[in-house]
Amino acid sequence: MDNYNELSKQAAEILAEQVRKKNDSVLGLPTGSTPEGMYACLVSMYKNSEIDFSAVVTFNLDEYVGLPPDHPQSYNYYMHSNLFDHVNAKKSNIHIPHCKEQDPDLICREYEQEIKNAGGIDLQILGIGTNGHIGFNEPDQFLYTKTHLVELTEETIEANSRFFKSRDEVPLKAVTMGVGSIMAAEKIILLASGESKAEAISEMCSGKVTTRVPASLLQLHREVTVFVDREAASLLKK
Ligand code: F6R
Repeated sequence: MDNYNELSKQAAEILAEQVRKKNDSVLGLPTGSTPEGMYACLVSMYKNSEIDFSAVVTFNLDEYVGLPPDHPQSYNYYMHSNLFDHVNAKKSNIHIPHCKEQDPDLICREYEQEIKNAGGIDLQILGIGTNGHIGFNEPDQFLYTKTHLVELTEETIEANSRFFKSRDEVPLKAVTMGVGSIMAAEKIILLASGESKAEAISEMCSGKVTTRVPASLLQLHREVTVFVDREAASLLKK
């Protein structure tokens, strides 16, 4: 794809197509800078009556631990300000993992069960970290299959500090869907924009699968589409 706008439009179009085909689609959704353009396109499509969210069910990939839902940097806040406040998705159909005082293991188990009860994810949209993470599944010796509590890596804390007043404010932990929860989706679309993602995209598509590049596992999924702009694709071999 030529540029970020094109990528955002195409991703929104695929998501809208999914919802037109199945109005009660279960969507897995990411946050971060990359999908902002896609959400903006979806909001304008909704305003033009090109998409109806009334029966759509959503599950967000992840959420920081320790931020209240109304904190401007929480993913709950992000999803409402970028999408949910502007479309007709039902509150009861929106799922964003949130753990506070409660037992994180219980929250994670319940989240998995809720995805199961909804019939599984039809379309999962993903971004990718500069270190190759998907959701907050960070590069490691091993990865977790299910929704779990995770300690963020230095690289992710550094990358995400741009959203906070200072690096010290970035939460150190998050809850994330596991690689198994992601891989169980019927279809997956991964979005990447900009030069900072070029290395991760190249490693992800290298033909090798390693837990050191969690996105590389997607090579084992039967229906993944990767949307990249020129910069993010710049290290892919021709
Ligand atoms: C966010 C998420 C992360 C981001 C990734 C890229 O819900 O799951 O994996 O997709 O960190 O973030 P941006 O798009 O901000 O570069």
